[in-house]
Amino acid sequence: MTGAAAPGRAPPTSSEQPTVTEVLTVSLDLSIDSGGLEAASRDRRGSGGGVAGEEASTSGRTATTTATSGHGAAAAAAATQLAGHPAIARAASILAEGGVVAIPTETVYGLAANALSAEAVGRVYAAKNRPADNPLIIHVSSLAMLAGLYPPGWELPPIYEPVLRDLWPGPLTVLLPRSPLVPDAVTCGLPTMAVRMPAHPVALALIAACGFPLAAPSANSSGRPSPTLAKHVAADLGGGVIPLILDGGACSCGVESTVLDALRSPPAILRPGGVTREALVGYRGLEALQVYRKDFTDAALEAAPTTPGMKYRHYSPTAPVILLDPSPPAAAATAAATAAAAAAGATAANGADSSHSSSANGHGSGDGEGLGERLRQATEALLAEMAGSALEGWRPIPALAGSVVTASSSSSGSSSSGCNGSSSRSVPLDPPTLELASRLAGGGAVGVLRTSLAGAPPGLLQRAPQAKTAAAAAHSQVDDGERGRSSGSGGVGGGEGAGTRAVAAQRVIEYVLGHVSRPAEVATELFAGLRALDEAGCVVIVVEGVADEGAGVAVMNRLRKAASRVVHV
Ligand code: TXA
Ligand code: MG
Repeated sequence: MTGAAAPGRAPPTSSEQPTVTEVLTVSLDLSIDSGGLEAASRDRRGSGGGVAGEEASTSGRTATTTATSGHGAAAAAAATQLAGHPAIARAASILAEGGVVAIPTETVYGLAANALSAEAVGRVYAAKNRPADNPLIIHVSSLAMLAGLYPPGWELPPIYEPVLRDLWPGPLTVLLPRSPLVPDAVTCGLPTMAVRMPAHPVALALIAACGFPLAAPSANSSGRPSPTLAKHVAADLGGGVIPLILDGGACSCGVESTVLDALRSPPAILRPGGVTREALVGYRGLEALQVYRKDFTDAALEAAPTTPGMKYRHYSPTAPVILLDPSPPAAAATAAATAAAAAAGATAANGADSSHSSSANGHGSGDGEGLGERLRQATEALLAEMAGSALEGWRPIPALAGSVVTASSSSSGSSSSGCNGSSSRSVPLDPPTLELASRLAGGGAVGVLRTSLAGAPPGLLQRAPQAKTAAAAAHSQVDDGERGRSSGSGGVGGGEGAGTRAVAAQRVIEYVLGHVSRPAEVATELFAGLRALDEAGCVVIVVEGVADEGAGVAVMNRLRKAASRVVHV
């Protein structure tokens, strides 16, 4: 393809904006037995946040997961089956007219517009309320489409060739020299542009049908957790804010693409995502690949609105998030020492604090049991502290007024906690926390995103009040009938420990992300979990983290950005 023309007719003005958001479901029925891929569609219309319901999303989940679980080729093959699909044709016509459409990808839902039209791209920023200086990723359906963005004779920088051959379509975005056809609205004036080929049949089929690339940020309101279900998009952008959502089921990856900058030296992952560093580092030229903020920092990048920067709020539910981080503080820090260690070939996080287990330092994935237990205990302690404080009236602890608490496993030490002496760690209570306390004291619910439970399927968990242990509750008290509801009555079971008993007066709503030793599973559920607890009315959300390695790097990156407080456990 070559640069497609800007839209042929004037897009609707704001006064013509529809008041409903149409939701069209594109489900793929992939049957191995039949030896082929069958595409079926079911049209749904929603109004006001009108959403494809659980049923549609659930039915889409299986098919989409099958099509995109790391198999870009399968996604590409499935995409060809969708050519001419009525929902895709409808989306393509809106996009060709300069409109925006929310689309499924294997990472998260994206809000797409013609990447070659500044006017169309402007509507993306407006719908999301996205700051105008944060550039967008361009999505292509073929290498030919990418080549068509450049003058004749252009060649892909050699360092990317084998990577893209192997990993596209897939959750990998690469920085390339900016194409002259791409408007400033997409790149925000940068000399580079970010491009990826998504491994989702619906996205691929749609881009191919359009014949032009699509600029698409995540389809959430700016600052909110990214959407991994069509209903998340509708919650943020329904009610006519955008005209159409294509529902392709649940996103199989669950976190955004990895952003790779191999134009810089040494090459760097600017945003960890669906493709791990381990999957990239074996490629020629990527041997010294660094991960931003894990291996190095850069003042200019930090201040920039682009990928790694902290300039803008990210991934945040309404409720404040307290992250239980199993990595030692040094792993999350950005010291020059870590960059120097990385340059010397050492792993930056190593050796920072010998009191932490090897798993916390990034090399102990076999230690899932110990890590899970540590997280479970930390959650207990935190719940106990919250309950105690809510009952007594929260009081600030001056010595701990910072945003980070480093809690060792011992309750002794320099803590000036005025709280219950049996608690092993303390949380700093600042003015916003005081407000939180009053809401807790008034019966507000505490949400817990769990990674330490074994045996419970992902999703909302309701425990019976008499459950003996966490594991027993997970095994015996969860069934389909209970999931999806959150009565909040009773809190967690009486056998869990002092913390849990102390919090009995509180409502505790739990959501199981996945086991701490399976970070890819945790990634898939992460944003859905944050949104579910928010929706359930939690006034604070406690999140159990995972080890900062492999697929866990992207998870912890998102959680650290979402967290208003990090407690190292
Ligand atoms: O998985 C994904 O990448 C999803 C799906 C929809 O494809 N998209 C996504 O887009 O996450 P967004 O806008 O939420 O995040 C794109 C990130 C932003 O942080 C932006 O700053 C960065 O990519 N970015 C875009 N162009 C860039 C550039 N030229 N240099 C550095 N960062 C860039
Ligand atoms: Mg985003």
